[in-house]
Amino acid sequence: MKVLVIGGGGREHAVAKKLLSGKTVESVYCAPGNAGMKRDGITVVAIPQDNHEALIDLVKKEQIDWTFVGPEVPLFNGIVDDFQAEGLAIFGPTQAATQIEASKEFAKELMTANNIPTAGYQAFDDYNAACQYIENGPVPIVIKADGLAAGKGVVVAETKEVALNALDDMMLDKKFGSENTRVVIEEYLTGEEFSLMAFVSGEKVYPMVISQDHKRLLEGDKGPNTGGMGAYAPVSHIADSIIEQAIEQILKPAAKGMAKNNTPFTGILYAGIMATEEGPKTIEFNARFGDPETQVLMNRLESDLGEVIQAILNDSEPDLKWKTEGVSLGVVVAAEGYPETYEKEIPLGLPEEDEQLQLYFAGVSEKEGQLVSDGGRIFLVEASAATIEEAQSLIYQSLDSVSKPGCVYRRDIGHRAVNSEPAGNKKAM
Ligand code: AMP
Ligand code: GLY
Repeated sequence: MKVLVIGGGGREHAVAKKLLSGKTVESVYCAPGNAGMKRDGITVVAIPQDNHEALIDLVKKEQIDWTFVGPEVPLFNGIVDDFQAEGLAIFGPTQAATQIEASKEFAKELMTANNIPTAGYQAFDDYNAACQYIENGPVPIVIKADGLAAGKGVVVAETKEVALNALDDMMLDKKFGSENTRVVIEEYLTGEEFSLMAFVSGEKVYPMVISQDHKRLLEGDKGPNTGGMGAYAPVSHIADSIIEQAIEQILKPAAKGMAKNNTPFTGILYAGIMATEEGPKTIEFNARFGDPETQVLMNRLESDLGEVIQAILNDSEPDLKWKTEGVSLGVVVAAEGYPETYEKEIPLGLPEEDEQLQLYFAGVSEKEGQLVSDGGRIFLVEASAATIEEAQSLIYQSLDSVSKPGCVYRRDIGHRAVNSEPAGNKKAM
């Protein structure tokens, strides 16, 4: 079977590699892909992810059996609708269903209508009304731009001044998109955060193991938010009872609610969740796999990913098995200066891969036959081991053994698992 993966980052590299490792899929094309993927036998095709017509032509010409979409942008642009209109099989949500990620207000309304626990909120179109709400309310408070902001549209404001500045940026200066100036202002949640994803087909939900992302640039979870500096799975200090609650109270009613709304969801549904003292509460939904969570989750999956997706596309039950022992941990190597300005074409020192250690490439290209950097997040080193500490030492030893001028990475990925008390509900479940 031939499959196309749309996207070009570490998430897509991990998905493509996992597809190739099973029996169902013989060849994987990735568009636009990246030069690092070629090392794993992935066919990289230089078609941009927003050129639906050229992607459709590729699928027809190469007789590709089905397509998997990694990033949110092509999904928001309706790539699934366009492929389906041509009668082509594609795994991902329709444009209407992507509103669960693209519109914070759509997501909040879905949660309210289906009793899904989340932070209290109010949506505003009127700048003065929003200012008044902040003046009269508590801090910290969270301000979210409605609509796509590539992960940048969220401000956790510790003070009223910061909150009011965020309103200026979003509503007056239209910093996060020219048309939509609506904001959602929500209650600040405290607790341990985790990512819960599931394969979803209409009302059917097949959950994955949970993972934890490290969004801040610097060690100790300090510094600016990034696309993610590392992740690990499973997150053993989050109790099974909390995960069970999150599946029953968040993922399943979300899928049901989407079907009831006439926007049924097929694809990967991602819930960012806070384990609060009152139980799990939803922070956000995404209509796709998380990055870098996927790079650590793929190694936890024992089943053939191609077979799982094929089964869902055929509307039959997938056989989903996850490893029960050990952990997977991933550390992102980024260009110095990321997420602001950084150099490109940095020559890369790459650790050797082996059974326990894998590389997933993101911002790379080829220059004179060598891989060089071409983006902020360059690659991720993933290790599978018995414990978090063992995975950390495999990764950090391997990184220490190569030269890496111009590159940075956090040395504390997984620290919350090593140092945390069990999180979530205080009372026994
Ligand atoms: P997002 O881009 O929606 O993932 O938000 C970025 C980060 O902001 C999340 O990973 C959380 O750490 C934080 N955040 C978002 N909403 C809330 C909230 N209501 N309470 C506390 N933290 C939040
Ligand atoms: N790792 C968070 C995300 O993919 O949105």
